[in-house]
Amino acid sequence: MKVLNFGSLNYDHVYEMDHFTEPKETQSSLSYGRNYGGKGLNQSIALAKAGMPVYHAGRVGSDGQDFIDYLNRYGVHTDYLMKDDSQATGHAIIEVCKGQNRIILHGGANQAIDEQQIDDVLEHFGNEDVLLIQNEISSMTYLINRAFEKGMKIVFNTAPMDEKVFSYPLDKISIFIVNEIEGAGLARLETRDLDEIIKGLRAVYPNKEIVMTAGEEGSYYMHKDILIHQDAYQVEVVDTTAAGDTFTGFFLASMMKDGDVAAALDLASRAASITVQGKGAAQSIPDISQL
Ligand code: RIB
Repeated sequence: MKVLNFGSLNYDHVYEMDHFTEPKETQSSLSYGRNYGGKGLNQSIALAKAGMPVYHAGRVGSDGQDFIDYLNRYGVHTDYLMKDDSQATGHAIIEVCKGQNRIILHGGANQAIDEQQIDDVLEHFGNEDVLLIQNEISSMTYLINRAFEKGMKIVFNTAPMDEKVFSYPLDKISIFIVNEIEGAGLARLETRDLDEIIKGLRAVYPNKEIVMTAGEEGSYYMHKDILIHQDAYQVEVVDTTAAGDTFTGFFLASMMKDGDVAAALDLASRAASITVQGKGAAQSIPDISQL
């Protein structure tokens, strides 16, 4: 069984701020750094650091060799990562303030993924394999349909949640991974009340496995009449960037090893609690030996 993560790769430009910049305000940052990120890349790193072999498919610009080297350093297979000289590598502008972040994305090469590339990659995978996706690349509907036709199990982290998600063939997804905001969006609810979100998700997707993270409120697994809650580990938060990506990678890796949901939620929560104590995205994801 192989894991294919078809996902984004971004240069993250990270600015530490005194406060989030207001409209009409010009504000100097307290510090600046350029790191490797993208929800796709972060989740591949998390899977690899959790001990799960992973193939990362995606697209970067002419400056993308750095991403290939970075992923290879952690043992991620990059045979299906394409360099496209006509595109700029995706990037994100991230303001970090008192542990929270605000992210502006420019998709670049992530949004140039086309049907041909998807066909070329999926040729190497079959019905024993798992496809992990996020919502930062193009041609999502085609990707989901083709992977489903091949009998792959599809795990969808709906971040960043937007209206496009509802145009995808969601009936073909096996596991949704969301945070509470994305969970409310997926259930088409305005509320921030966790009980209502859980009730809404279970009503709209009664046969899907759903994993929802909720920050300090911990995380939840829902499937049919099963509801499992995992407390969050309380730690000092420095930067939440990639906490959800860490959770996704460790949860999936653990589930694929033995299918024990409670153990997977616990492992993923512990991993994410370490990620939030460090600055940056991929660089703050722990190795399983640290847990
Ligand atoms: O989840 C964090 C990631 O979101 C960042 O690395 C950024 O690139 C955006 O994709």
